[in-house]
Amino acid sequence: MLTRTGRVVDQRRLLGHLDRLGRIGADDRGGVTRPGFGAADRDAHRYVAEQARALGLVSTVDAAGNLFVRRRHAEPDRQVLLIGSHLDSVTYGGRYDGTYGVVAALEVLATLADRPEPLAYEPVAVAFANEEGTRFPSPFFGSKAMVGAVDQPESIVDRDGCPLRDPLRAAGGDLDALPSAAWPAGRLAGFLELHVEQGPVLENAGVPVGVVDVVTGRTVFDIVLRGRQNHAGTTPMADRCDALVAAARVVLAIEDLARQRRLCSVATVGILAADPNVTNVVPGAVALTAEIRDGSAGRLAEAERAVSQILAGLDPRLRVSLDVTRLSAPVATAERFRSATAAAAADLQLPVMTLPSGAGHDAQIVAAAGPVGVMFVPSHDGISHAPQEFTAPADLVNGANVLLGTVMSLLDPP
Ligand code: HGY
Ligand code: MN
Ligand code: MN
Repeated sequence: MLTRTGRVVDQRRLLGHLDRLGRIGADDRGGVTRPGFGAADRDAHRYVAEQARALGLVSTVDAAGNLFVRRRHAEPDRQVLLIGSHLDSVTYGGRYDGTYGVVAALEVLATLADRPEPLAYEPVAVAFANEEGTRFPSPFFGSKAMVGAVDQPESIVDRDGCPLRDPLRAAGGDLDALPSAAWPAGRLAGFLELHVEQGPVLENAGVPVGVVDVVTGRTVFDIVLRGRQNHAGTTPMADRCDALVAAARVVLAIEDLARQRRLCSVATVGILAADPNVTNVVPGAVALTAEIRDGSAGRLAEAERAVSQILAGLDPRLRVSLDVTRLSAPVATAERFRSATAAAAADLQLPVMTLPSGAGHDAQIVAAAGPVGVMFVPSHDGISHAPQEFTAPADLVNGANVLLGTVMSLLDPP
C-alpha cells in the first residue's frame, strides 16, 4: 500500500532496527531494561546515531542527552517539524515503548532525505533522554530540558544518591550547559510522536491506527510513614504503631480513589519499601510512591486533595511526610495534526479511531513549545511496561507509513 505520495518506509530496515534495539539492554525476563543514562541506554543512542550516519543523515546530542537526527543539507533557519520519542525503558519493560517511535522517525528522515525543496518545515528526528525516569527519577528529563522546564537539575540523584552529572556527561550531555538545550520560541513548528498504545482499545476495536486527542496528566506522591520499630513477639498489639499496616491502608485507599470513588482514571502504588524489612520486627517506617492519572486537571486536583485526606486519617501517632510532584498536566493534541494523521491513514485505506492516552508521553511536555500530535498502533493484549509487550509487524509498518504520510502532508508548503 502506498501513501498519497507513493512513498513508504523500508519495512525490512524498520523491523531490523527494532530487533537490534530489542537486544540492547535485553534482560533475563525476556524484556528490555534500559534505564535512562545507563550503559544500555547509551548503546541504544549510539546505535541510532550510527544508523543515521549510515543513512546519510547527521546526528547531534544536546546538553540534556537528547539525540537529534537531521538531513545533511537541513535548512538551519527553517522551523522544525520534530518527530520521535524515547529509547530508555522501565525495568523489565518492552521493546516497543518509545523505541518504535524513534526508529519510525529515523525511517521517515531516511525516506525524506532526498525530498526536493521547497519544504514548509525542516524534518528532524529525536530520541528524548530519560522519558521514563527509571534510574534518575526525573521523567521527561530530555523533553523538559527542550522547553526549559527541568527543576533543580543539580538535585537529581538516583536511589543510591548518585548525582546525574557524570552519567549525563557519559551520554554526551552537560549539566552545566543544560539551559542551552532549551529551544528558542518559534523554532518548533510542531512535534509528532508515534507510539504503541500500551493499552487494549485499538486491538479490542480491531482498528490499526489510533489518533490521540488527550494525553493524560500525572501526579506522583512520595510518602514516608514513620511508626515505632519494635519486637514482633513481645510488643502487645494494642501498643503497636506499625508503619506497614498503615501503609497497607494507604495502598487500598489510593486504589479506591479510582476503582470505587472514580475521582481519577487510575491510581497506583508502584513502590513500597518497609524498614527494617525483617520478619520478626514491627516495621518502624515505610516509604511508598503512588501516582494518579486523569485527562482532566480539575479531577487530578480533587484526587490529590483526597490523597492528603487519606494520610490525615491515619493513626495520629504516625509521623507522615508527603512530597507531591505534579509531573505532567493533561494535554490536548493539535487538530491540524489529528486530521493530517487521519488523512494519511485514509490514504492507506487504514481504519482509524480517536482515543485518549492513559500513558504519558514526551509530546505532552513539548506541547509547551508548539502543537503536538500523538498516534498509536495496537498493543497485543494491551500489555506494556512488561516483557510481554508486543505489536505485530504489519501494525508497526502501517504506523510508520501513516507517520510518513502525515509528515509529508505537513511538509507540503501551504
Ligand atoms: O508511564 C508512562 O505513562 C510512560 O510510559 N512513561
Ligand atoms: Mn513507558
Ligand atoms: Mn513511552
